[in-house]
Amino acid sequence: MDHGESRRPEKRRRRRRVALCVAAVLLLLIIVAVVLGVTLSKETNQFQSVFFSRCEKFKGHDCQKIWEAFQQAYVNQDPCDVPMEAYDPLITAAPFKPTCNRMMFWSKTKDVVHEFTEKRDCFVTLEDTLLGSVLDGLTWCGKEGSSETFTSDCPGWTDCENNTVRSFWNRVSAAYADIACGDVTAMLNGSIAVPFSPTSIFGSIEVKGLNATRVKSLNVVLVTDEKNVTNCTNASLKDLQKELAEGIKYNCKEVPETQIQECGSNPQKPCGSCW
Ligand SMILES: *[C@@H]1O[C@H](CO)[C@@H](O)[C@H](O)[C@H]1NC(C)=O
Ligand SMILES: *[C@@H]1O[C@H](CO)[C@@H](O)[C@H](O)[C@H]1NC(C)=O
Ligand SMILES: *[C@@H]1O[C@H](CO)[C@@H](O)[C@H](O)[C@H]1NC(C)=O
Ligand SMILES: *[C@@H]1O[C@H](CO)[C@@H](O)[C@H](O)[C@H]1NC(C)=O
Ligand SMILES: *[C@@H]1O[C@H](CO)[C@@H](O)[C@H](O)[C@H]1NC(C)=O
Ligand SMILES: *[C@@H]1O[C@H](CO)[C@@H](O)[C@H](O)[C@H]1NC(C)=O
Repeated sequence: MDHGESRRPEKRRRRRRVALCVAAVLLLLIIVAVVLGVTLSKETNQFQSVFFSRCEKFKGHDCQKIWEAFQQAYVNQDPCDVPMEAYDPLITAAPFKPTCNRMMFWSKTKDVVHEFTEKRDCFVTLEDTLLGSVLDGLTWCGKEGSSETFTSDCPGWTDCENNTVRSFWNRVSAAYADIACGDVTAMLNGSIAVPFSPTSIFGSIEVKGLNATRVKSLNVVLVTDEKNVTNCTNASLKDLQKELAEGIKYNCKEVPETQIQECGSNPQKPCGSCW
């Protein structure tokens, strides 16, 4: 009898311990969920604040409207299933304005070309326009069943064809090429064996998108260094000419990188004489 009576409170104690454990585990799960929730919306908030601070540098635009048009392309979507057409409303919300004779395309010369266009007003690259500069260097994607914008664990450039970021750059590049007019310039890299790649954005979208009713000529600036690996006679540049719509004139000039840097830091020098 004594035995039986002393066993009962022990059972009760054990039951209480189990209940405490379950409560502790539940609490932990709630904390993890809350922390995750907070970091997710923090990702969205951080991305959104970069978007707005970059957008607001361009006066006379409704950044809220542009943000909403941007988001509708990828939010609540599979990040590998965002076709470039998803960004059509964004292009409508922030259309590109033609800057005839000053439009600059580039491939594999990103640093040199932007160092130059930032210092001098002679040329405008896609990354100097509102949409290009707002999204330059950023990664973003959505997820099915979520209204968040994620900046980590997004598919990479080559993970799937129609990923959020790649489709954006394809779409804005097509729109930028479409409005090109007059004499157009392209800065290509003469320090690599193949300066024109048909699979680059420049090769697969921009060159094909130049419209002969508006574009008079394409002028390639082939940036060379001491080693000049290649020159304007390279066969890949013949392929480039073949991709151009009939009626667009083609020129190519080898220009040392040092000359471009000099011209960039010399605001007195007229743009036309940089090369
Ligand atoms: C990517 O999107 C395009 C439409 O822009 C579509 O034609 C193509 O089939 C898609 N590719 C894949 C792999 O889903
Ligand atoms: C050309 O490409 C090489 C190799 O990727 C790179 O090191 C160099 O900076 C590029 N040149 C220019 C002018 O961007
Ligand atoms: C070029 O632009 C003209 C006028 O906007 C248009 O009618 C024509 O379809 C365009 N051509 C191509 C190949 O897109
Ligand atoms: C590099 O190009 C310049 C002119 O563009 C030429 O004078 C020079 O001989 C070339 N150097 C080599 C190593 O091919
Ligand atoms: C261009 O490069 C080729 C070899 O790649 C060379 O034979 C030719 O002389 C070069 N032309 C000029 C103008 O430097
Ligand atoms: C020139 O272009 C062809 C193909 O377009 C490439 O295979 C070759 O290596 C290029 N470069 C030189 C330096 O010849």
